[in-house]
Amino acid sequence: MALLPMLLLVSSPALLAQTVNPLEGDPRAAFAGGALFRAQCATCHGADAKGISSIDAPDLTLMWSQRQLSAQDVFDTIRNGIAGSIMPPHDFTDTEIWMLVSHLQNVAVAGVIGLPDGDAANGQRLFARHCAECHRVRGEGGSLGPDLSTITARRSLESLLISVRDPSALIAPGYKPLTVITGSGETVQGVLKSEDAFSLQMMDSNQRLRGFRKQQLRSLERPQQSLMPVFSESLLGQQELIDILNFLDRN
Ligand code: HEC
Ligand code: HEC
Repeated sequence: MALLPMLLLVSSPALLAQTVNPLEGDPRAAFAGGALFRAQCATCHGADAKGISSIDAPDLTLMWSQRQLSAQDVFDTIRNGIAGSIMPPHDFTDTEIWMLVSHLQNVAVAGVIGLPDGDAANGQRLFARHCAECHRVRGEGGSLGPDLSTITARRSLESLLISVRDPSALIAPGYKPLTVITGSGETVQGVLKSEDAFSLQMMDSNQRLRGFRKQQLRSLERPQQSLMPVFSESLLGQQELIDILNFLDRN
């Protein structure tokens, strides 16, 4: 019983206004926040908000759980910046900042939540046509890209949409693009599988594993562009992509 007055105090409107994101749960807010994040924050924090260690920009997906920051704390940090660091203050409206907070709350969740309804059977057909050449689901499909059987349990909706619409913004670990020219002049494109000082193994774009001694290569380049093609909305409509995600989610 002694708890009751405290609970009343904590839930008084003035206090609530300081800790709850007023746009929480609004998918359009998180979506708009994602666009703002990619334009204004991704250069330092990474497109997936997981941070860039060379400039000490922290992983923003961990701050909620590890540092127990509230939505209001994050709002204040975005507005005011962090004195003595390169984290700048931002001259956004309150609504824009809450949109960014919504986006950061969404990307912190492991697994897709709030996936809009879609036609999983149509998604399966679209997957076979556009994706299966490079991706496996339950043991079937190609292996130039990662196995997508459990992807909707591991990645947020936001980050999956980025992976498909703008693959180079978020390259999956273990699938870094590589282009080599061999001693005999053959150009081989693919993804790097392993590497030491003297040799490397890659999967080429025909999905064959190839090994090379670095000394025997004429050139070795590490392009920033993913081997996954960009699926713009003219190639794959938003509802079609949602159908594919519904198919992947029902596996
Ligand atoms: C020029 C690089 C840069 C840009 C641009 C930038 N940040 Fe930062 N940010 C940092 C650095 C570096 C830190 C860590 C500062 C420290 O703690 O000393 C940081 C810290 C933060 C923190 C605090 C995290 C924590 O664990 O306390 C938040 C939240 C944040 N940034 C959000 C954003 C958002 C949202 C944007 C875009 C509107 C943004 N940042 C733009 C570099 C940047
Ligand atoms: C030509 C080969 C190719 C095709 C076709 C392709 N992808 Fe990819 N995909 C890749 C490669 C390579 C990667 C890893 C590099 C990267 O993350 O960009 C990847 C990464 C991904 C990721 C990120 C996976 C992770 O573990 O982070 C998702 C999600 C994805 N693809 C979905 C799709 C969907 C959906 C389609 C069909 C609409 C598709 N891909 C078509 C090659 C392809």
